Amino acid sequence: MKLKNALLCLFVLLSFWQCNSPQKEILQATTPVLGVTSQKAMVVSAREEASKIGSEIMQQGGNAFDAMVATEMALAVCYPNAGNLGGGGFMVYRTHKGEIGALDYREKAPLRAFKDMYLDQNNKYLQHKSKTGGLAVGVPGTIAGIFKAHQKFGSLPMQSILRPVILLAKNGFKITEKQAKQFNDHRAVFKQVNQENSIFTKKFKVGDVFKNEALANTLQQISDNGRKAFYQGDIAKTLVAFLQKNKSIISLKDLENYQAIWREPIVFNYKDLRIISMSPPSSGGICMAQILKTTANYPIAVYGHNTTKTIQVLVEAQRRAYADRSHYLGDPDFINIPVDSLLSDAYLKNRMDSFSFDGATPSHQIKHGNIQAPESKETTHYSIVDSYGNAIAVTTTLNASFGSKLYSKKLGFFLNNEMDDFSAKPGTPNLFGLIGADANAIAPQKRMLSSMTPTLVEKDNKLWMSLGTPGGSTIITSVLQTILNVYEFNMSMQQAVDAPRFHHQWLPDVVKVEATSFDAKTIKNLENKGYVIDYKNPSSIGTVDAILVLPDGSFEAGADKRGDDTAVGF
Ligand code: DON
Repeated sequence: MKLKNALLCLFVLLSFWQCNSPQKEILQATTPVLGVTSQKAMVVSAREEASKIGSEIMQQGGNAFDAMVATEMALAVCYPNAGNLGGGGFMVYRTHKGEIGALDYREKAPLRAFKDMYLDQNNKYLQHKSKTGGLAVGVPGTIAGIFKAHQKFGSLPMQSILRPVILLAKNGFKITEKQAKQFNDHRAVFKQVNQENSIFTKKFKVGDVFKNEALANTLQQISDNGRKAFYQGDIAKTLVAFLQKNKSIISLKDLENYQAIWREPIVFNYKDLRIISMSPPSSGGICMAQILKTTANYPIAVYGHNTTKTIQVLVEAQRRAYADRSHYLGDPDFINIPVDSLLSDAYLKNRMDSFSFDGATPSHQIKHGNIQAPESKETTHYSIVDSYGNAIAVTTTLNASFGSKLYSKKLGFFLNNEMDDFSAKPGTPNLFGLIGADANAIAPQKRMLSSMTPTLVEKDNKLWMSLGTPGGSTIITSVLQTILNVYEFNMSMQQAVDAPRFHHQWLPDVVKVEATSFDAKTIKNLENKGYVIDYKNPSSIGTVDAILVLPDGSFEAGADKRGDDTAVGF
């Protein structure tokens, strides 16, 4: 541990020197990269504007929960492919007193939803219906989520928190290169789904200023009239009329009924770390616990980072956890989940009995584990720590990039396609290739199973890390690899976030790796052992944002180089 502290100090010194050196560009290519550091507070999110607004709220005396509201809404303005009013999310928190909890503001199936709603008379799954347009939309939870968080923990008035966000929507923000491409790539589908032009069907180039007057008005109404403006008032009426015109089955009753829910997070130990993560209806905490608790039985620090043996251990643990996910997990308000059994040491050890370093266990030989006694009972992530000692991790989503692509011109926001996260037909993969079963079948008012994994980590009873990522099914494996990168492989937070990642989810029986970033010899070794490696796919895995508490109590952010992610602190 002493060596690790010394290395971190060296990184801090190097980065301070880099910040003040004209040779910064050259040095960054050759020295270990330390992320942005700060003394008192930090926000790291997908956009600089959102991190800035969150950080400024804390500079004005607000706490991490005030900053959560500001950052969440700012992302809806300047990162509209995932930031949202029309989607949902999860927050995990730890207060300065060490109290922990989780907030579920996941979307719900509408009252008129039913199990086979995406199947035709011949039982054929009509894929497009759960992915684009009105029928794909789940009842949005984000506005309920921010008000619930604010009501319990907020310290500044909602109006003060929303003011800078409304100004951002009115005055606009500059489009980045990545964003221009993303917006332009979706122009045709926006036009096709909405049958009309909007501010999103223009052609964009980097540096264009993007303003959204309609969204500024919507946010102003929420600021003036509170949560009920969205779920009962004028916004609700406009939203339901718009949705129903577009074949949605969401009614005013659905909006009125919606409630965000406080939940107990999933808490488990990995060696001397205490990990606090999201509970069902997200699969994140349980799957990560299964994978990390299994991994703890192998000396992966000795095997080395991304070596054949380390990858084998993680892939085999992932394969087995995702098989369990598919069978056992869903909305805990509708099904019984045998959490204790799934996380018991004996069960997890037994699951790995069929594993040998000699070769891959084919996924067709792996089913969900047997649990004898049933028990009764384009996403985005941001992390925030404040100067009072509170920490949060939040992952929020519309599901696909721009959700269902349905955009309300009057209200200025996109609607989710979260209904696709249900298992529309047992055995048929969803958008992320995930296979589900009855536990995640559609039912009125039910929440669809998620992989979102906002996570906090404690060490020595103190906050150590806050992290999470988008990436659908790859979220869970990205989060746990990032924790291992710092804990087992002594990386800085920024290095841990940037390091190449891999992913296995039981089915399809493929190890996805980030193209070009893995050693050719390791890939060959794995192939020789029977693993099918997908290394040609150019898409990256996840966009992790994280904050690490350094030994002196200051913070280091990891803002993923794969996106425009930026940390702002003071
Ligand atoms: O809740 C889930 O697991 C998905 N709806 C998350 C979607 C996602 O991460 C998309 N981002 N790349």
